Formats: sequence, C-alpha cells, structure tokens
Amino acid sequence: MCGIVGYIGGDQAAPLLLKGLEKLEYRGYDSAGVAVYNGKQLEIAKAKGRLKVLSDMLEEGKTLKGTIGIGHTRWATHGAPSDINSHPQVSDSGKFAVVHNGIIENYLTLKNFLTGKGIQFVSETDTEVVAQLLEYYYHKYQCDIFEAIARVIHKVEGSYALGIICEDCPDELYAVRKDSPLIVGLGEGENFIASDVTAILAHTREIYRLNDDEIVRLTRGGVTVYNTDRDVVEKQAVHIDWDISAAEKGGYEHFMFKEIMEQPKAIRDTISPRIRNGKVVLDDITLTREQLESFRRIVIVACGSAYHVGVVAKYALEKMTRIPVEVDVASEFRYREPLVDEKVLVLVISQSGETADTLAALREAKRLGARTLSIVNVVGSSIANESDDVLYTWAGPEIAVATTKAYSTQLAVVYLLALYMGNLLGTISQETYAAGIQDLEKLPDQVSEILSNREHIQYFASKNFNAKDIFFIGRNIDYALSLEGSLKLKEISYIHSEAYAAGELKHGTISLVEDGTLVVALASYLPLFDKTMSNVKEVKARGAYVLGLTVEGKTAIEKETDFVFYLPQTNSMMQPSLMVIPLQLFAYYVAAMKGCDIDKPRNLAKSVTVE
Ligand code: F6R
Repeated sequence: MCGIVGYIGGDQAAPLLLKGLEKLEYRGYDSAGVAVYNGKQLEIAKAKGRLKVLSDMLEEGKTLKGTIGIGHTRWATHGAPSDINSHPQVSDSGKFAVVHNGIIENYLTLKNFLTGKGIQFVSETDTEVVAQLLEYYYHKYQCDIFEAIARVIHKVEGSYALGIICEDCPDELYAVRKDSPLIVGLGEGENFIASDVTAILAHTREIYRLNDDEIVRLTRGGVTVYNTDRDVVEKQAVHIDWDISAAEKGGYEHFMFKEIMEQPKAIRDTISPRIRNGKVVLDDITLTREQLESFRRIVIVACGSAYHVGVVAKYALEKMTRIPVEVDVASEFRYREPLVDEKVLVLVISQSGETADTLAALREAKRLGARTLSIVNVVGSSIANESDDVLYTWAGPEIAVATTKAYSTQLAVVYLLALYMGNLLGTISQETYAAGIQDLEKLPDQVSEILSNREHIQYFASKNFNAKDIFFIGRNIDYALSLEGSLKLKEISYIHSEAYAAGELKHGTISLVEDGTLVVALASYLPLFDKTMSNVKEVKARGAYVLGLTVEGKTAIEKETDFVFYLPQTNSMMQPSLMVIPLQLFAYYVAAMKGCDIDKPRNLAKSVTVE
C-alpha cells in the first residue's frame, strides 16, 4: 500500500526523503509528496503520477530546503490519484502535515463533525481528517502535539501508520501506527521513520519496530516511544543485516527478473539451516508431538500467491500427515464465523507479514482458540509477532510487486514442515522422510538448471505475447500451480487468463476455447498424466494451441501438444518448485515484450495493508 518515510537530522531532508521513497515506490505509485519545515513554515510539494514527476519538479529535492520532513508515495483508496489527494495532507491553517498508510474507517463521521465546526476540507481523502482533527484538538484543548495525537487516535477507527510534523515544533517528528507497518530508524544525530527498512537501509541498520498505538517522538538527538498514557516504553533495537544490494536492482532491468534469478539462493538459504544430519530441524517452532496429534484439522489462510502456496500445501500436508487440510482466502475466512478451535492448527502464509486480511484472519483464529503458525518473510512483522510460532522464509527483501522468490521459499518451508510433521507423527516411513530431505536439498541446483534454459521460454513468449486469453490447466498439484501461473501472467502482462482443474474445464469454460486459444497444460503429476492428456485432446479438438510442461523423459506429451518444456523430475510434492520457474519466466517475458511496467503493474501495490 502507501509508503511513508520521515527524517530529522542535520542533512537536507527533501533529497533524502525522495531517495527513501524510491525504495518504497513498490508500495504505491499513483502520486507522491513531501513536507519539509523550511525555517519559517511547512512547505509542501505533491504531484500526481510516479515519484519521478515530483523528483523532477523539485530537482531531486534541491529546491526544498530544511532538515526535517515527511514523504509519501500513494496507492489511492479514498479519492482518485490527484495532486490534491496526494499526501502530505495538511490542517486548515497549514500548521500540521500528515502522511498516512491505512484507512480511517469513520472518516465521514469525523469529517461531518469538523465541517460542522467550520473547518474546510480540500481533498477527498480520509487522511485529511487526521490532519484537521489534530489541529482542532490542539487548539481546543490548548495541548501539546503529543496529547493532540493521543486524542486523535482515540477517536479514529481503522488502520493507520502516521508521520506527523507541526510548524510549532520544528525540531520534532512524530509517528504512530495501528495495523499498518511502521519502523523507526536510529541514527547518529539523525533519526528516521519508514514503512519498510529498505527506505532507510542506506543510513542505519538499527531500528525499532513499533507496536499498535505506541506514539514515538523523534528529535535529532534521540527517539522516545510512549504509550497513549505518555509512559515511556522501553524498546529493544533490532539490527537489520540484510545486504543493501538485495534491495537494489544490481544491473538487472527489473527487480522481478533479479528476484526470479535469486531463487536458487533464496531456497538454499531457507532450507539449509533447517536440515542437519539428515533430519529436518525446526528449532524455530515449539509444537510438540502431542500437540500435533491433537489437531483434527489444519486450516491454511493467506491471500493471492501466498494462498496459492496454501493450495500446494494442502496436497503436501495431507499426504505427509494424513490430517485433513482446508485452505481459505483470508478475506473470506475472517468474516465467515470459521469453525476453528483449539483442536485446529491455523497456518498463516504471508511474505510481508502485514497483509490486512491475513493479519485479521490470524487474530480471528487466535480469538477462537486455535494454535497459530505462520510462514513469513519480513522478520518482526505483525503476523510474525502475533503468531504462536513462526517459520521465516529467508528470501531477503522482495521489491517487485509480483512475488517470485517469496512464493518459492514459502513452498520450501511447506515441504520442510510436511516432512517434519510426517516424521513426528509417524505418518511417513523413514525411507520417505530421508528421500524427501534429499529431494529438498537438490531443489536449488535444479532451479538453477531450469533458469539456465530460460531462452526456450523466452522464445515461446516471443511467439505468443499477443495472446488475448490464456488458460492454465492441470490436475492435483499441477492444478495448484496453474493458479499461480495464471495470476503471475495476468498481473504483470494484463492478458486475461484463467486457471482450471484440467477435468473441470469442460463443465462450462471450454466454450471459450476457439481456434488459436493458448492453453498451458501442466502435466508433472505423473499418476494423472494420461488423464491430463485427455483434457489436452479436448482443447486441441477445439483449436487450442498448447504449451505442455512435464518432466524429462515424458516424451508422450509431444504428440499431444504444440510446444514442450521439460523439467527435471523430483518428488511429486515438490514439483511445483520447479514447474513455477518457467511460468514466472513466461509471465515476465510476455510482459517485457508488451512493454508493461513489470515491477509496478497498474492498480497494484505490494503489501496490501487495507482490506
Ligand atoms: C502476487 C502477489 C500477491 C501477494 C498477496 C499476499 O504476485 O504478490 O498476490 O501474494 O498480496 O501478500 P503477502 O504474502 O505479503 O501477505
């Protein structure tokens, strides 16, 4: 969603804020703005469009002078992208400037209340309510900024990460969050706030993670965190050891391609520390065998690609543990009075650890008494913090909006978990366990091998990038993967695509298949290979042009399909880790050939912190 950065120190704020916003642009990119105290007053600069528009307007920040400021890159929720609706939003007199990520749900009530008091609103945003309310309380109660903020957060409902500066206190920067990510960066004679560490990694690696409704006051000389009663909260600084180059493009044209290429390393980093002496060792979780045995069901909740990992996980976990597994989209789970209790393990999957629906689903599961385990990439994120147990994926920062390496590392953790649980419960033999571990360890090299054959997929993409509709079909675990192949393609190339269980297509949707319709048939699950080929025959008979993906040696696919990509063979449960690579590459090359903005697809943003 939106990206926030704030600075107070000895350097010029605007250039630094713009640089920080560049790193956050993946969170939202329909408009951007900064506010800086220029020695006399707050000076605001905002522009609709990509950050570059603002940056050019400000000559990369040189024209805006001042050493304290806040910046924002927006993904519109309330009010269309426009200069006026961009953040920072300011109060009536221009005294307060606010940047916000999240949604103020009761903003209309508050707006009506303030309008009734004669306050003029200029934007359509929910955020302006915060700026106006701050000034209203500040005057009404003749209080300081801290108290005004505390009063505002008592009043507003919804989610927020806020960065606030006020003309009357030009040596103080304030921030507060609830259900939206925000961190504080600790420097020498300078301090920062940001939605994500990548924005400030060039300046500091020491951070505080804020909890809900902690109000933080930053000066040049220090940072103090308070609760809403103004008691000081002792925070533990966290050291971030991410390699800074991990958040840079490093010579690649797109982050997405870089992240696709990083997958062998990311998978290895995720698996290696957890395999010792031929055993899966999950030191990070405390689940005992007795607890595992007590679970009647496992319920997986996640959104988007993480949900697709959940669909693969259902097949893998059921096979290895014989415990029934359900997979639910988090936004549905949270509102359908889910049937979970202490006899259910709820597995939550999220790259960012901040996705609003997934976080709410986790909280609902906990409220109902379920045991919760999460698979998360961002260390210390809300979902990680609030789960009973967390297994981190060691993918490093993922910047491209379309996930690739996070998906792959989530799958790797799922396999580790499936083998671990299967072994603990005794539902798999020692041979299956040992072979599974060996197969898992081979994955990084197999992924490298597929990546080195990428020209083949590039060639296929060059012949098909003008396709209008594409269908992805597969059975069993191949179906789970077809969901991800389809999503990847549509989100970055804007080609309409659908994923279908191969046997299901003929129950209606096959009516859309006509001469030349592209069908991608995934056929790595060999027990059902022939059945999938029958479905391929059905679409071929209606004129489809078919790309077949299967494992090396399964040459029978050649007579049924028009173009084939072979993959190394592995344990059927793990095959999605290999099959997903050509699907990611296909989406990437098609989007590149169509000239799409691959890292920042239209209408999307990474880390969906609103519901
Ligand atoms: C698609 C994609 C999204 C995310 C989804 C969940 O490429 O990245 O579908 O998977 O928004 O995000 P996280 O994993 O951060 O909860």
